[in-house]
Amino acid sequence: MARLLGSTRINVAATSPPYADRRRYDQASDFKPIAPAEYVDWFAPVAANVRRHLAADGSWFVNIRAGAEGGERELYVYDLVIAHKRRWGWAFVEDLLWTRPGLPGTWPNRFKNGHEGIYQFAPSPQIKFRPEHVSYESSGARVYSPERHFGFSKDGYEERGEKQHVEGIARPSNVITTPAGAGAGLTGLHPAEFPTAVPRFLILAYSDEGDVVFDPFAGSGTTLVAAEQTGRAGYGMELSPRYAAIILERLAGLGLVPRLDGAPEGSGHRPYGVLVACASEAEQARVHQQLVARGLDCRPLEG
Ligand SMILES: C[S@@+](CC[C@H](N)C(=O)[O-])C[C@H]1O[C@@H](n2cnc3c(N)ncnc32)[C@H](O)[C@@H]1O
Repeated sequence: MARLLGSTRINVAATSPPYADRRRYDQASDFKPIAPAEYVDWFAPVAANVRRHLAADGSWFVNIRAGAEGGERELYVYDLVIAHKRRWGWAFVEDLLWTRPGLPGTWPNRFKNGHEGIYQFAPSPQIKFRPEHVSYESSGARVYSPERHFGFSKDGYEERGEKQHVEGIARPSNVITTPAGAGAGLTGLHPAEFPTAVPRFLILAYSDEGDVVFDPFAGSGTTLVAAEQTGRAGYGMELSPRYAAIILERLAGLGLVPRLDGAPEGSGHRPYGVLVACASEAEQARVHQQLVARGLDCRPLEG
């Protein structure tokens, strides 16, 4: 990460990491499925690196969903959330959801899955928060002000202050509904893509134009695409050269010139980088050749 980002501070880090041992991703890559019992320890350096490069008011979003084994949900996702807070000292700001169609199926003791969790961590609860970027026009909008606070009392629902529904701007909830079909923006080239609407919402709601977005498990580059579409600089890391090539092609399709050291002077392009993890220089040379052979503008990092 230090080689990719230097002293650049991340405003929004958002990812969908490997789902432990549930998926194999690109079998030609060096990915080794992670046993659920080892997941938290495996994840520790990822969280630490993100923390090192995150802005003081930045947010770190982890989209993950535990599988079920023997009729019970695995617990490693909850362990991961608790480790962020209790072991690694993050503030646990929020848990959001995104809705997904869910694969049909009949299980003996549960329904098909219709959602995924997104856990939000930050160095402190004083985060950059931009609800106005994701708010929408509504005839039932409420008036928000410090004096008008709505909340629950011990006896049930209580509204303090005068209730007001007006024609105006409403805030969304913490459930991100994603469009199905072509609107989801999926390439179909990666086995675990999330819809562009997921990172787009997180980027808009927690950063400003010109800010920096990072995805350590970039996959097909959905987060980087959303960063570009919303006017943020995107940086990502991906283990598989095949998926890295998909990212570069997607970004090239948006008119970006892939560069690892920032945009060329006066080009009007925002900087972005995609780093492919390589175990050795020989491996790096091989990956580089593969990407160049696909006609992509990329080069190995020096040093
Ligand atoms: C759940 S997928 C991410 C999918 C992504 N959100 C998208 O929309 O395409 C996880 C990705 O992490 C990658 N990966 C696994 N281990 C990695 C590592 N150590 N460093 C970087 N990427 C890794 C896998 O190759 C896979 O593409």
